[in-house]
Amino acid sequence: MNKTSRTYLRFALAQRIEHLAMLVSFTMLGVTGLPQRYPANRVSIFIVNLFGGIETTRNIHHIAATVLMLVTMYHLLSFGYKFYVKRARMTMLPTLQDIQDGWQTFKYNLGIAKTRPQMGRYTFEEKLEYWALVWGTIIMGLTGFMMWNPLATSRLLPGEFIPAAKAAHGAEAVLAVLAVIVWHMYSVHLKHFNKAMWTGYLTEEEMLHEHPLELADIKTGAAERPLDPDVLRKRQRVYYPVAGVLAVIMLAAVYGFVSGEQTAITTMPAQPDLLPVYVPQTPTPLPTLVPTATQKPAAALTWDAYVAPLFQQRCVTCHGTVAELSLDTFENAMKGSQNGTVIIPGDSANSLLIMIQTPGDHLGQLSTDELQKVRAWIDAGAPEK
Ligand code: HEC
Repeated sequence: MNKTSRTYLRFALAQRIEHLAMLVSFTMLGVTGLPQRYPANRVSIFIVNLFGGIETTRNIHHIAATVLMLVTMYHLLSFGYKFYVKRARMTMLPTLQDIQDGWQTFKYNLGIAKTRPQMGRYTFEEKLEYWALVWGTIIMGLTGFMMWNPLATSRLLPGEFIPAAKAAHGAEAVLAVLAVIVWHMYSVHLKHFNKAMWTGYLTEEEMLHEHPLELADIKTGAAERPLDPDVLRKRQRVYYPVAGVLAVIMLAAVYGFVSGEQTAITTMPAQPDLLPVYVPQTPTPLPTLVPTATQKPAAALTWDAYVAPLFQQRCVTCHGTVAELSLDTFENAMKGSQNGTVIIPGDSANSLLIMIQTPGDHLGQLSTDELQKVRAWIDAGAPEK
């Protein structure tokens, strides 16, 4: 292969800076986040101690998350610029061709197909990775919000969403870190050491090898359509104010996200005497033993043990000592009212007290269950003790 000196700009300086900010925040999030997911691990304990304890580790995690939110914000605004002002080709959008390319690559790797697919500005692998990042950022942002703002969340959603968000946040974190280590490292460093994200440029050979269709587009001038400077200025005049308003709204949202409330850990007033700030692993609680032999026998069905307290609570306000019927003592209850006895020991069916209570509409009404017991008490001879 004859070397040519020609190189092609792949990533502009702004994109490289964006990538660097992303790399730093992502790495910090992983390094400070995974030890929180696997707190009992020796490496985790080492890392947490290295940062000076769990509080600092969490603070660094939150700062890195804020940086990532700002990077995301910038990404949206710069996308808007490319979309509206430059009317650039949306080279990151998935197309049907990507499925064909994937299939062709699969066959090529198995040795079935002789040639690799010819791909454009972004290969199907790069698109997959980009959209996985978009998806991951949305998930991490939403679940991160729920953990950072538990009160606001529980105002909108049931409280179960907060532990669920924690589980999803941790699982997605493992997925994302593995994707970067395995997938991104492989395709950028192992498959072919691609330095374009640092230098900005790819050589002609690299372009020919990895993005032949893009190279062809550049050569024919189809990659970047020339823009009339007047049109450009006109669109900028529209876009800049819109972007400015959007930026203010997004910054306010980020500020609210970060400062709205404390995390679930600090929302509760700290009780350092009662609870350690950092519990590496919550021990699984053992089931409470059911008392068996020591269990108290159910209260005996006597006046003293059951009926007296019940009547005291439910009847005596009206049937106290002064009323025609007094239910305050055993003697008075057995004496009955002016109409005679209301309790006939051994015969609940003919006891006035039961007859009065059975329809269920007495001014002081017993529950079905209580009435059942009082009936049983009478049938048992209405014992006092
Ligand atoms: C809110 C007041 C009130 C409460 C509480 C109350 N009663 Fe009465 N009870 C009355 C009044 C008033 C009468 C008389 C009119 C009637 O028969 O409904 C009465 C009548 C009775 C009579 C019939 C007495 C007779 O000879 O005419 C019995 C028996 C009776 N109550 C039992 C009970 C029992 C048992 C309770 C508790 C579970 C109870 N009552 C709670 C107001 C109350």
